[in-house]
Amino acid sequence: MPARIAVVPAAGLGTRFLPATKAVPKELLPIVDRPAIQYTIDEAVGAGIDHIVIVTNEAKPGIEGYFKPSQMVVDKMRAAGRDELAARMERIGRDVQVSFVYQDKPLGLGHAVGCARALVGQATFAVLLPDELLPDANLLSAMSELNQKTGKSVLGLARVTMDQVSAYGCVVPGVDVTAELGASVVQLAGVVEKPKREEAPSDIVLMGRYILEPSIWDDIASLKPSANGELQLTDALQEQIHREGMHGIVVDSDHYDTGNPFGWLTTVIDIALKDPIVGKQLSEWLRSRGSG
Ligand code: G1P
Repeated sequence: MPARIAVVPAAGLGTRFLPATKAVPKELLPIVDRPAIQYTIDEAVGAGIDHIVIVTNEAKPGIEGYFKPSQMVVDKMRAAGRDELAARMERIGRDVQVSFVYQDKPLGLGHAVGCARALVGQATFAVLLPDELLPDANLLSAMSELNQKTGKSVLGLARVTMDQVSAYGCVVPGVDVTAELGASVVQLAGVVEKPKREEAPSDIVLMGRYILEPSIWDDIASLKPSANGELQLTDALQEQIHREGMHGIVVDSDHYDTGNPFGWLTTVIDIALKDPIVGKQLSEWLRSRGSG
């Protein structure tokens, strides 16, 4: 069965974005007219997911609030003749089942994903980190297809410059599988979380998309603190790679990091420039500032 359920870890405190994230979760910061997390939902739905489990914490009630029905606003938009917006508002949280689980201690990404175990059960599942924004579902769909073909977990990968690798989980590439699976597929011999630049095994990193086979749950349950003293999902992947093998697909489209002010700003500008409503106006404005 292809992955139909996705875990979206959203319990982080957004410390790279304080004080903006003191009252507004970073997942709700707007990218043009949509909160960032809606892009994650749209991407997942586009890849065939019909149930999203959001891992949050009780200090971020705004995330649940976003998915609650808002009949009053819908009625007001309809009365104002804004039917398209009303329909969009009505779809939020209805085109897909959304569930919430709570991470009560910030013990790391491995722990956050582990909080969803009871809800996900023994199914192949996706994990999407909402800080990483992809404008379409192409990568996740290709990952799901490869998972169907191999029966093994598949990771979303990106190439970065060597001075960026230590911010990510980094891949130890295995044998060349181009002839068998295509040029963008990498067989994984291992993964290491946030290596020092001089110790990094490659320039290929984990970019926040995972299709995981359920045997990962026991690896997650056995995690010990490692990089940054946290329970790292990457360490569970390393166990699964050694036991069962795994592949990754290197993304070939735009992808954005919205989790810090500069990344968010450039994401907003880039996506706004492609927007049918504000794109032209923004590009003219940038040109008038001598920067377009
Ligand atoms: C997490 C993962 C890391 C991955 C990264 C992608 O790190 O632990 O393996 O490369 O997301 O954004 P974080 O950004 O939470 O430090």
